[in-house]
Amino acid sequence: MTESLSRGADIAVVGAAGKTGAAVVAALGGLAGVRRVVHTARRPGDHAVDLDTGAGLDEALSGCRGVYVIAPNVHPDEPALVRRVLAAAADAGVEHVVYHSVAWPYTPAMPHHVDKARCEDLVRTSGLRWTVLQPCAYAENFAAILDGSASTVELPYSPDARFSFVRLADVAEVAARVLVEGPDIHHGATYELGGPEALSVRDLCERADEPVSVKQVSVDEWMSRHGQSLSEDGRVRLSAMFEFYDRHGFLAGNAVFESLLGRPPM
Ligand SMILES: NC(=O)c1ccc[n+]([C@@H]2O[C@H](COP(=O)([O-])OP(=O)(O)OC[C@H]3O[C@@H](n4cnc5c(N)ncnc54)[C@H](OP(=O)(O)O)[C@@H]3O)[C@@H](O)[C@H]2O)c1
Repeated sequence: MTESLSRGADIAVVGAAGKTGAAVVAALGGLAGVRRVVHTARRPGDHAVDLDTGAGLDEALSGCRGVYVIAPNVHPDEPALVRRVLAAAADAGVEHVVYHSVAWPYTPAMPHHVDKARCEDLVRTSGLRWTVLQPCAYAENFAAILDGSASTVELPYSPDARFSFVRLADVAEVAARVLVEGPDIHHGATYELGGPEALSVRDLCERADEPVSVKQVSVDEWMSRHGQSLSEDGRVRLSAMFEFYDRHGFLAGNAVFESLLGRPPM
């Protein structure tokens, strides 16, 4: 146990209600020495925070030693949200900000990645002590393949495009370690988190317990069936991502991930 862990810690997870946030909260919950985890979510919970306005942020971060910052997926202005969180963290005297970014943040063809590159810059120049995590694509994006509930999957890019899929539980375990060990060990570090193999969605289907077939459809077709709840801006950002995946896949290294986990990623 590190010195900072043995003192106990109040950690805030900004964006705790989403799938990443829930995994990070669960990983922190399993650690001895974490005194209290403050969950922030748009809906009332432990602390209701609206990142679009900043309402509730000051109260949520008050007394926290560390903050894990998770922005909503394909938000139209992630840097504005992160700027708000950093200002509140500075006011609250937070010692360590850990930002949940993405692998390959500076990818001009993917606007929501470029926004994360901008956010990384905001974090690094905030005057706070910081760490950035850059996970690759989650295997859990294909939960229906992994849990056997799908017999077919529609994909708006090539089923043979390759990804260094990561497991969310592994990413959360690293996030919890970094938060608990704190800035004395992790300030100034940017950790790329890629899975152990370059796999395609077709590979995931072939490894499923029950057979799963995969069919490529156009981005427009996919959007008309699965993108109904997205804003126009969200549709544009996701479409750009699908087109990029189709051409280039999305890979990341796993050496740092393995070292931080103390075992190979799953
Ligand atoms: N999926 C991947 O493969 C992957 C890989 C690397 C990085 N990431 C990044 O991980 C982050 C989280 O992704 P996720 O899939 O875990 O997200 P998610 O499950 O969609 O959760 C997003 C959460 O943000 C909340 N939210 C939305 N707008 C908000 C606002 N204005 N104020 C406060 N909360 C708000 C939503 O709350 P409500 O429930 O109230 O709507 C939701 O709980 C994203 O930034 C994504 O880019 C994802």
